[in-house]
Amino acid sequence: MSAVPLEVVEDIASRQAALRQPIHPQALPDQGLHDLPVRPHVHISLNVRGLSQSSTLAINERSARLERAGRKVFRMGLGQSPFPVPPTVVDALKANAHQKDYLPVRGLDALREAVAAYHRHAQGIERSAEDVLIGPGSKELLFILQLCFYGDLLVPAPSWVSYAPQAAIAGRQHRWIDTRREDGWRLTPEGLDAVCRADPDRPRILILNYPSNPLGVTYSADQLAALARVARRYGLVVLSDEIYGELHHQGRHASIARWYPEGTIISGGLSKWAGAGGWRLGTFTFPPELRSVLDAMAVVASESYTSVSAPIQHAAITAFSGGPVMADYLARSRRVLRQIGPAIAARLRAAGCALDDPEGGFYLFPDLSPFRERLAAHGIHDARLLCERLLEDTGVAVLPGSDFGRSPTELSLRLAYVNFDGARALEGAAELNAEAVADAGFLAEHCADSMAGIERLASWLEAL
Ligand SMILES: Cc1ncc(COP(=O)(O)O)c(C=O)c1O
Repeated sequence: MSAVPLEVVEDIASRQAALRQPIHPQALPDQGLHDLPVRPHVHISLNVRGLSQSSTLAINERSARLERAGRKVFRMGLGQSPFPVPPTVVDALKANAHQKDYLPVRGLDALREAVAAYHRHAQGIERSAEDVLIGPGSKELLFILQLCFYGDLLVPAPSWVSYAPQAAIAGRQHRWIDTRREDGWRLTPEGLDAVCRADPDRPRILILNYPSNPLGVTYSADQLAALARVARRYGLVVLSDEIYGELHHQGRHASIARWYPEGTIISGGLSKWAGAGGWRLGTFTFPPELRSVLDAMAVVASESYTSVSAPIQHAAITAFSGGPVMADYLARSRRVLRQIGPAIAARLRAAGCALDDPEGGFYLFPDLSPFRERLAAHGIHDARLLCERLLEDTGVAVLPGSDFGRSPTELSLRLAYVNFDGARALEGAAELNAEAVADAGFLAEHCADSMAGIERLASWLEAL
C-alpha cells in the first residue's frame, strides 16, 4: 500500500509548528468598542456546507407531521428494527444501571472478549479482544475510520445513505461504483477491478454491506471469494458492514473476512439484530494486520466520545454471548421477516415492479422503470417526486433510490418493511412452521399495516 505523500506530511508538520507558537497577550483596546453588539463570525466548514440532514430522518419527521394532521401514514421510510430488545439483554441493562465509571476507550474488556468469541463461533474467524473496538454505534466508528484512513472510499451504488456524506465531512474522496439490476444490484469483481485498475496503488477502503440496506440481498460464498481476490490484488481495506448479518433470512450469513482475513474490518453492533438502535453500540473487529488503524481510531475516540455508556456495554455482553434465549429470539426474528419480505415482493411484482425476493434484513429496492411512461403522463419523471406523490396519494412513506447513490431519474425506491408490532409478531412466530413463507394467516394477524400499505402502493401503480 502506498505511503502518505510528502506534501501532506509537510503540510501537517507546518500546521503543527504554527500551533506551537506562543500567543503574546496584548493590551485590550478601548473597552467601549467591545460593548457594541456585533454579529459573531460564523462560517460553516466547506466540508459540511450544502449537506442536508440524513434523508431517512427527514422522511420520518415528514411522516410524523402528516400523522399529526390526522393522515394515515404507512411508515416504510426509516429502517428501524421492529423487534424489541431481547428481555435477557434488557435485564442485563437494568442490573448494570449502577455502572458509572468511564470505561476504557477501546471498550470493556469482557465485551471485547465476547465480540471476539462471537466471531469465532458464528464465522470461524479467529480474533482476540485486542482486535475489537467498541463505539457509540457503527456509524460513528465508520466516520472515525474515514478521519483516520488516508485514502479514497469506494461505495457500490446503491448503498446506505450515510457512507458518502460521511466521506465528504471527513474530507475524503468517495467514488460510487455502478451496479446493474441484472446482478441484483450487487458489486461484481469486474466492476471493482475496473475502478482499481486505473490507479492500482491508491489507498482505498471498499464498503461492502450485506445483507444490504437498501437492497435486502446478500452475496453468496462464491461471490465473496471472487470479490476478495480483487480486493487482495489491489491491497484494499474492506469495511465489511455486517450489521444485518444475523438477520440473513436463512441464518446463513458468511463474512468476506473468511476469504480476505488480512484486509477486512468487520462492522457490527446491537442496532439491527438486537433491536437496540437507540442504545448506540457498534463494534469494529480488525485483523492484526490493520492494528495501526485501530490504534489511530482509539486516539480519535479518546479525544471525542471517550467511551461508550458503561451500562450499555455491560448489557451488550449478554447479547454477544448468545446462548439458547438469543438463538430463539433470532430464529423467530428471521421467521417473521421470511413471512413478510417475500409476500411484499410478490405483490409488487404482480403489480409490475421489477425486484427479487429479499434474502436478509428488512428492505426491498423495487425498480419502477416499467411504469416510466405512465408516470411521465402524470408529470412524474424522477424518484424523489414519485416518493412525494406516493406519500401524498397513498400515505406510504418510502425513500427514493437517489438517496442511495442511484441517478435521480432512475425510478427505484427503498422500502423498509418494519411497520408492524415486532413484539407480537415474535410471539406469533412461535406457532409458525419453521419452513413457512408468506403464511396468509400470520400476515393478516401480525403484519396487517405493512400489507395494507403495500396494497395501496400496488393498487396506485395498477391504476396509473
Ligand atoms: C447499512 C447500515 N450500516 C450501518 C448502520 C448504522 O448502524 P448503527 O450506527 O446504529 O450501528 C445502519 C443503520 O441504519 C445501516 O443501515
